[in-house]
Amino acid sequence: MKFQAIKGVRDILPPESALWNQVEQAAREVFATYGYGEIRLPIFEPAELFARAIGGETDVVSKEMYSFEDRPHELLAPPTYGEIGPYIDQLKTWLENGRIPQDDDNKFRLVSLVQAWNDFKAKPGDRSVDTNDLIAVYQMGLLRDAVKLGPALTLRPEATASVVRAYIEHGMHTRPGNVKLYYMGPMFRRERPQKGRYRQFYQIGAELLGPSDHPALDAEVIEMLLAFFARIDLKGATLYLNSIGDRNCRPAYIEKLREELRKVKDQLGPDSQRRIETNPLRVLDSKLPEEQAVIEKLPRIAEHLCDACREHYAELKRQLALRGIAYEENWRLVRGLDYYMRTTFEITATGLGSQNAVCGGGRYDGLVELLGGPATAKGIGFAIGTDRLILSLEEAGQAASAAAIDVFLAWFGAETYPVAVALARKLRERGVAVELPAVEMKFGKSLSLADRLGARYAVILGEEELAAKQFTVKRLADGDQRKLSETDLLAYLLEARAA
Ligand code: HAM
Repeated sequence: MKFQAIKGVRDILPPESALWNQVEQAAREVFATYGYGEIRLPIFEPAELFARAIGGETDVVSKEMYSFEDRPHELLAPPTYGEIGPYIDQLKTWLENGRIPQDDDNKFRLVSLVQAWNDFKAKPGDRSVDTNDLIAVYQMGLLRDAVKLGPALTLRPEATASVVRAYIEHGMHTRPGNVKLYYMGPMFRRERPQKGRYRQFYQIGAELLGPSDHPALDAEVIEMLLAFFARIDLKGATLYLNSIGDRNCRPAYIEKLREELRKVKDQLGPDSQRRIETNPLRVLDSKLPEEQAVIEKLPRIAEHLCDACREHYAELKRQLALRGIAYEENWRLVRGLDYYMRTTFEITATGLGSQNAVCGGGRYDGLVELLGGPATAKGIGFAIGTDRLILSLEEAGQAASAAAIDVFLAWFGAETYPVAVALARKLRERGVAVELPAVEMKFGKSLSLADRLGARYAVILGEEELAAKQFTVKRLADGDQRKLSETDLLAYLLEARAA
């Protein structure tokens, strides 16, 4: 059997991984200059956290989450035919003492299972041959599997919900000033894989939480993002900006939008038709060519913002101008997650095809309260899709500065090996990357391998060198070759490395 990475997930190999490290290191450095510290978050959380924060009607929650049921680790393995009695007894005890979820549905499932088992036991005769009995066993299996053994957990589809959960859990609102956090790591969404879209993808994100919602904060978050993109020399980034109002003005706008959408319902596809009732804002996100003309005529939120939101948006634009940040307004930028209010933004980059958004973000002032934290805490942040960012850099010709090995240490004759091991260690202690063959190689083969590995130098240690307490060092680029003592060799290689 041959194993392969599953659809939509992939390996990131050297030397490409070196570019990832450089990009992540640049993010760390730039974000630190804005006062952000790293938060390391769990990869899985209760499913309910994401359902609440992101919204049940969103694509992410309704169809893209990877969820599974947790279970007490002492639970016996689900039994096979004939062993279900002790398993049921264990479930009964654990339901009574709350080790497994005690909700009414679960109680009912267990009662049904017990009933089915009692009926089965009560019947006389040989059960392994009767078809009706086989069906009864199968049904018991279904009932057994229906009993919930623990809470639903989800591989995180994004990290803002987790950051807010952590902010509340650790009472971070009592910390002085704004709480500024960044994170990087894998996220999981069951999307249709294509270029720039994966089921395990990576984000670099940042969140600012605190009592103020001043637009200068929004502008500074965007400034930081662009400073990072400038640092890594991302070409062709365009910033799109919008304001989607708040809980005062958005509901009325959504109603207005819904009304207008109902009038043109028959000109829309099935997805948009459904969204008229469930989430009309998402219709604005549609990329279907045949819907574009209809959407362009819909009412725009900018004309329905309340005074406070309009002033917030106007001040944000002044703050961006003050920082010399260019942007394009896009009234249809509503974003796919429900927690946003007021500011939303996205950045696109070149070389990515249809999945060209490298970053999305916005303000989410109600989220801390929604998840059970203080109503006074506001938030804004963004997440960069690292896979797409790297793709865009690569398309523009960037590659990691080669981190190949410095020295290939070729040894010939068993008695030279201990000296080679000692020399390799001394070089590595000084930061020189050394490749030391584990078994003796033929001279020609070892030099050809050194070449193919991209080594800059070959150090040759044969019986002759051993006797003379010297090493031959060959610069592979031009064949320059010299014989040096250990001290001189170390000095020579360190100097070459620094150059
Ligand atoms: P998002 O727009 O869902 O926002 O994702 C942010 C970025 O992650 C996208 O712009 C894209 O670059 C990348 N991304 C999303 N899905 C995939 C995928 N399947 N494959 C590759 N890349 C992908 C959020 O996640 C919010 N939490 C951002 C945020 C933080 N808002 C406020 N704070």
